[in-house]
Amino acid sequence: MTSEDSLKNARERLIVALDLPRADEAIALAFDLASEVSFFKIGLQLYTAAGPEIVRAITGTGAKIFLDLKLHDIPNTVAKAVASAGEIKVAMLTIHLSGGSRMVEAAVRAVSTDLQLLGVTVLTSSDETTLHETGVNGSVAEQALRLAQLGADAGIRGLVASPHEVVALRRALPSRVTIVTPGVRPAWATADDQKRFTTPREALHNGADYLVVGRPVIAHAQPREAARRIINEMAER
Ligand code: C5P
Repeated sequence: MTSEDSLKNARERLIVALDLPRADEAIALAFDLASEVSFFKIGLQLYTAAGPEIVRAITGTGAKIFLDLKLHDIPNTVAKAVASAGEIKVAMLTIHLSGGSRMVEAAVRAVSTDLQLLGVTVLTSSDETTLHETGVNGSVAEQALRLAQLGADAGIRGLVASPHEVVALRRALPSRVTIVTPGVRPAWATADDQKRFTTPREALHNGADYLVVGRPVIAHAQPREAARRIINEMAER
Protein backbone atom coordinates (compact mmCIF):
# COMPACT_ATOMS: atom_id res chain seq x y z
CA MET A 1 0.00 0.00 0.00
CA THR A 2 1.30 3.52 -0.78
CA SER A 3 1.31 5.98 2.10
CA GLU A 4 -1.64 7.75 0.40
CA ASP A 5 -3.60 4.48 0.37
CA SER A 6 -2.66 3.81 4.02
CA LEU A 7 -3.91 7.25 5.06
CA LYS A 8 -7.17 6.78 3.15
CA ASN A 9 -7.63 3.35 4.71
CA ALA A 10 -6.94 4.75 8.21
CA ARG A 11 -9.33 7.66 7.67
CA GLU A 12 -12.15 5.26 6.72
CA ARG A 13 -11.59 3.29 9.94
CA LEU A 14 -11.70 6.15 12.46
CA ILE A 15 -15.09 6.94 14.04
CA VAL A 16 -15.22 10.11 16.15
CA ALA A 17 -17.80 10.01 18.98
CA LEU A 18 -19.79 13.26 19.01
CA ASP A 19 -20.53 13.02 22.74
CA LEU A 20 -21.91 16.53 23.02
CA PRO A 21 -25.11 17.90 24.55
CA ARG A 22 -26.38 20.11 21.74
CA ALA A 23 -26.96 19.93 17.99
CA ASP A 24 -25.27 23.25 17.18
CA GLU A 25 -22.04 22.22 18.94
CA ALA A 26 -22.04 18.81 17.25
CA ILE A 27 -22.72 20.22 13.78
CA ALA A 28 -20.00 22.89 14.14
CA LEU A 29 -17.47 20.27 15.24
CA ALA A 30 -18.44 17.81 12.48
CA PHE A 31 -18.00 20.48 9.81
CA ASP A 32 -14.68 21.54 11.35
CA LEU A 33 -13.47 17.92 11.25
CA ALA A 34 -14.92 17.11 7.81
CA SER A 35 -11.57 17.30 5.97
CA GLU A 36 -10.14 14.55 8.24
CA VAL A 37 -13.05 12.53 9.59
CA SER A 38 -15.59 10.63 7.50
CA PHE A 39 -17.43 8.66 10.22
CA PHE A 40 -19.14 10.00 13.36
CA LYS A 41 -20.84 8.24 16.27
CA ILE A 42 -24.04 9.75 17.66
CA GLY A 43 -25.01 8.34 21.05
CA LEU A 44 -27.95 8.49 23.42
CA GLN A 45 -27.16 11.95 24.79
CA LEU A 46 -27.07 13.80 21.48
CA TYR A 47 -29.82 11.72 19.84
CA THR A 48 -32.18 12.28 22.78
CA ALA A 49 -31.50 16.02 22.59
CA ALA A 50 -31.55 16.47 18.83
CA GLY A 51 -33.36 13.48 17.23
CA PRO A 52 -33.13 12.28 13.62
CA GLU A 53 -32.47 15.83 12.41
CA ILE A 54 -28.97 15.61 13.85
CA VAL A 55 -28.31 12.50 11.75
CA ARG A 56 -29.43 14.35 8.60
CA ALA A 57 -27.36 17.42 9.50
CA ILE A 58 -24.13 15.48 10.12
CA THR A 59 -24.69 13.35 7.01
CA GLY A 60 -24.61 16.72 5.21
CA THR A 61 -20.84 16.88 5.83
CA GLY A 62 -20.56 13.80 3.60
CA ALA A 63 -19.79 11.61 6.63
CA LYS A 64 -21.29 8.27 7.63
CA ILE A 65 -23.17 7.86 10.92
CA PHE A 66 -22.87 5.20 13.59
CA LEU A 67 -26.04 5.52 15.71
CA ASP A 68 -25.18 4.09 19.12
CA LEU A 69 -28.62 3.57 20.69
CA LYS A 70 -27.95 0.08 22.13
CA LEU A 71 -31.49 -1.13 21.45
CA HIS A 72 -32.99 -3.71 23.83
CA ASP A 73 -36.75 -4.32 23.74
CA ILE A 74 -39.28 -6.87 22.49
CA PRO A 75 -38.33 -8.23 19.04
CA ASN A 76 -41.12 -6.35 17.22
CA THR A 77 -40.17 -2.96 18.70
CA VAL A 78 -36.46 -3.44 18.01
CA ALA A 79 -37.22 -4.50 14.42
CA LYS A 80 -39.31 -1.34 13.86
CA ALA A 81 -36.55 0.86 15.31
CA VAL A 82 -33.97 -0.82 13.04
CA ALA A 83 -36.21 -0.12 10.04
CA SER A 84 -36.52 3.54 11.10
CA ALA A 85 -32.74 3.84 11.42
CA GLY A 86 -32.45 2.47 7.88
CA GLU A 87 -34.79 5.20 6.66
CA ILE A 88 -32.56 7.96 8.06
CA LYS A 89 -29.62 6.23 6.35
CA VAL A 90 -27.37 5.49 9.29
CA ALA A 91 -24.41 3.23 8.44
CA MET A 92 -24.12 1.44 11.81
CA LEU A 93 -26.55 0.82 14.68
CA THR A 94 -26.05 -0.99 18.01
CA ILE A 95 -28.34 -3.52 19.70
CA HIS A 96 -27.83 -5.39 23.00
CA LEU A 97 -27.17 -9.07 22.39
CA SER A 98 -28.55 -9.82 25.89
CA GLY A 99 -31.99 -9.29 24.27
CA GLY A 100 -31.64 -12.91 23.09
CA SER A 101 -31.69 -14.70 19.73
CA ARG A 102 -35.30 -13.88 18.82
CA MET A 103 -34.64 -10.17 19.29
CA VAL A 104 -31.39 -10.32 17.32
CA GLU A 105 -32.98 -12.33 14.49
CA ALA A 106 -35.86 -9.83 14.26
CA ALA A 107 -33.35 -6.96 14.11
CA VAL A 108 -31.30 -8.70 11.40
CA ARG A 109 -34.45 -9.35 9.33
CA ALA A 110 -35.44 -5.67 9.59
CA VAL A 111 -32.28 -4.46 7.85
CA SER A 112 -33.21 -3.47 4.32
CA THR A 113 -30.41 -1.07 3.41
CA ASP A 114 -26.64 -1.46 3.78
CA LEU A 115 -27.00 -0.68 7.49
CA GLN A 116 -24.48 -2.64 9.57
CA LEU A 117 -25.93 -3.90 12.86
CA LEU A 118 -23.45 -4.14 15.74
CA GLY A 119 -24.06 -6.31 18.80
CA VAL A 120 -23.07 -5.12 22.26
CA THR A 121 -22.00 -7.94 24.60
CA VAL A 122 -21.21 -6.95 28.22
CA LEU A 123 -20.79 -3.23 28.85
CA THR A 124 -17.30 -2.36 30.11
CA SER A 125 -18.96 -0.66 33.08
CA SER A 126 -20.28 -4.08 34.20
CA ASP A 127 -18.24 -6.45 36.33
CA GLU A 128 -18.89 -9.88 37.84
CA THR A 129 -20.97 -8.30 40.64
CA THR A 130 -23.23 -6.65 38.05
CA LEU A 131 -23.66 -9.98 36.26
CA HIS A 132 -24.40 -11.87 39.49
CA GLU A 133 -26.94 -9.34 40.77
CA THR A 134 -28.81 -9.66 37.48
CA GLY A 135 -28.82 -13.45 37.70
CA VAL A 136 -25.91 -14.24 35.35
CA ASN A 137 -23.28 -16.66 36.63
CA GLY A 138 -19.73 -16.87 35.31
CA SER A 139 -17.12 -14.32 34.37
CA VAL A 140 -17.47 -11.23 32.21
CA ALA A 141 -15.21 -12.82 29.57
CA GLU A 142 -17.38 -15.97 29.44
CA GLN A 143 -20.59 -13.97 29.19
CA ALA A 144 -19.15 -11.69 26.47
CA LEU A 145 -18.11 -14.71 24.41
CA ARG A 146 -21.46 -16.44 24.98
CA LEU A 147 -23.36 -13.34 23.76
CA ALA A 148 -21.03 -12.85 20.79
CA GLN A 149 -21.66 -16.47 19.77
CA LEU A 150 -25.42 -16.03 20.25
CA GLY A 151 -25.27 -12.94 18.03
CA ALA A 152 -23.27 -14.68 15.31
CA ASP A 153 -25.67 -17.64 15.34
CA ALA A 154 -28.63 -15.24 15.05
CA GLY A 155 -27.05 -13.65 11.97
CA ILE A 156 -25.39 -10.50 13.28
CA ARG A 157 -22.23 -9.56 11.36
CA GLY A 158 -20.78 -6.88 13.63
CA LEU A 159 -19.75 -6.41 17.26
CA VAL A 160 -18.63 -3.69 19.62
CA ALA A 161 -15.74 -4.95 21.75
CA SER A 162 -12.91 -3.63 23.88
CA PRO A 163 -9.50 -3.76 22.15
CA HIS A 164 -8.49 -6.45 24.67
CA GLU A 165 -11.38 -8.75 23.68
CA VAL A 166 -10.74 -8.61 19.95
CA VAL A 167 -8.17 -11.40 19.75
CA ALA A 168 -10.39 -13.94 21.59
CA LEU A 169 -13.45 -12.91 19.55
CA ARG A 170 -11.61 -13.23 16.24
CA ARG A 171 -10.51 -16.71 17.29
CA ALA A 172 -14.03 -17.80 18.25
CA LEU A 173 -16.12 -16.19 15.51
CA PRO A 174 -16.41 -16.23 11.71
CA SER A 175 -13.75 -13.99 10.18
CA ARG A 176 -16.26 -11.79 8.36
CA VAL A 177 -17.57 -10.29 11.62
CA THR A 178 -16.84 -6.55 11.74
CA ILE A 179 -15.37 -5.45 15.08
CA VAL A 180 -15.64 -1.86 16.30
CA THR A 181 -13.60 -0.92 19.37
CA PRO A 182 -13.88 2.05 21.73
CA GLY A 183 -11.43 2.31 24.63
CA VAL A 184 -8.67 3.69 22.43
CA ARG A 185 -6.12 6.26 23.62
CA PRO A 186 -3.13 7.60 21.70
CA ALA A 187 0.02 7.73 23.85
CA TRP A 188 -0.19 11.54 23.99
CA ALA A 189 -3.80 11.68 25.31
CA THR A 190 -5.10 11.36 28.86
CA ALA A 191 -6.94 8.16 29.86
CA ASP A 192 -10.07 10.02 31.12
CA ASP A 193 -12.25 7.30 32.72
CA GLN A 194 -11.09 4.57 30.31
CA LYS A 195 -9.32 1.85 32.31
CA ARG A 196 -8.43 -0.94 29.91
CA PHE A 197 -7.51 0.97 26.78
CA THR A 198 -4.91 0.44 24.06
CA THR A 199 -3.31 2.80 21.55
CA PRO A 200 -4.94 3.02 18.09
CA ARG A 201 -2.06 1.03 16.62
CA GLU A 202 -2.44 -1.82 19.17
CA ALA A 203 -6.21 -1.96 18.62
CA LEU A 204 -5.71 -2.39 14.85
CA HIS A 205 -2.93 -4.90 15.46
CA ASN A 206 -5.33 -6.92 17.69
CA GLY A 207 -7.76 -7.14 14.76
CA ALA A 208 -10.19 -4.23 15.15
CA ASP A 209 -11.81 -3.01 11.93
CA TYR A 210 -12.95 0.41 13.21
CA LEU A 211 -11.83 2.54 16.17
CA VAL A 212 -14.17 4.82 18.15
CA VAL A 213 -12.43 7.83 19.67
CA GLY A 214 -14.21 10.57 21.59
CA ARG A 215 -12.51 12.90 24.06
CA PRO A 216 -8.96 12.73 22.67
CA VAL A 217 -10.44 14.49 19.62
CA ILE A 218 -13.55 16.36 20.73
CA ALA A 219 -12.09 17.73 23.99
CA HIS A 220 -8.74 18.63 22.36
CA ALA A 221 -7.88 22.31 21.91
CA GLN A 222 -7.35 21.58 18.20
CA PRO A 223 -9.67 18.68 17.29
CA ARG A 224 -8.67 18.56 13.62
CA GLU A 225 -4.99 18.29 14.53
CA ALA A 226 -5.79 15.55 17.08
CA ALA A 227 -7.75 13.56 14.47
CA ARG A 228 -4.89 13.96 11.98
CA ARG A 229 -2.36 12.63 14.50
CA ILE A 230 -4.52 9.58 15.24
CA ILE A 231 -5.02 8.85 11.52
CA ASN A 232 -1.26 9.15 10.94
CA GLU A 233 -0.61 6.73 13.79
CA MET A 234 -3.17 4.28 12.38
CA ALA A 235 -1.62 4.53 8.91
CA GLU A 236 1.94 3.91 10.17
CA ARG A 237 1.20 0.37 11.34
O1 C5P B 1 -14.20 9.78 24.95
P1 C5P B 1 -13.97 8.34 24.70
O2 C5P B 1 -12.93 8.08 23.61
O3 C5P B 1 -13.69 7.55 25.94
O4 C5P B 1 -15.36 7.84 24.09
C1 C5P B 1 -15.59 6.52 23.75
C2 C5P B 1 -16.97 6.35 23.22
O5 C5P B 1 -17.23 4.96 23.12
C3 C5P B 1 -18.07 6.92 24.11
O6 C5P B 1 -19.13 7.35 23.26
C4 C5P B 1 -18.50 5.74 24.96
O7 C5P B 1 -19.84 5.80 25.35
C5 C5P B 1 -18.30 4.58 23.98
N1 C5P B 1 -18.05 3.30 24.61
C6 C5P B 1 -17.00 3.03 25.46
N2 C5P B 1 -16.82 1.79 25.99
C7 C5P B 1 -17.65 0.82 25.66
C8 C5P B 1 -18.71 1.05 24.80
C9 C5P B 1 -18.88 2.32 24.28
O8 C5P B 1 -16.21 3.91 25.78
N3 C5P B 1 -17.45 -0.38 26.15
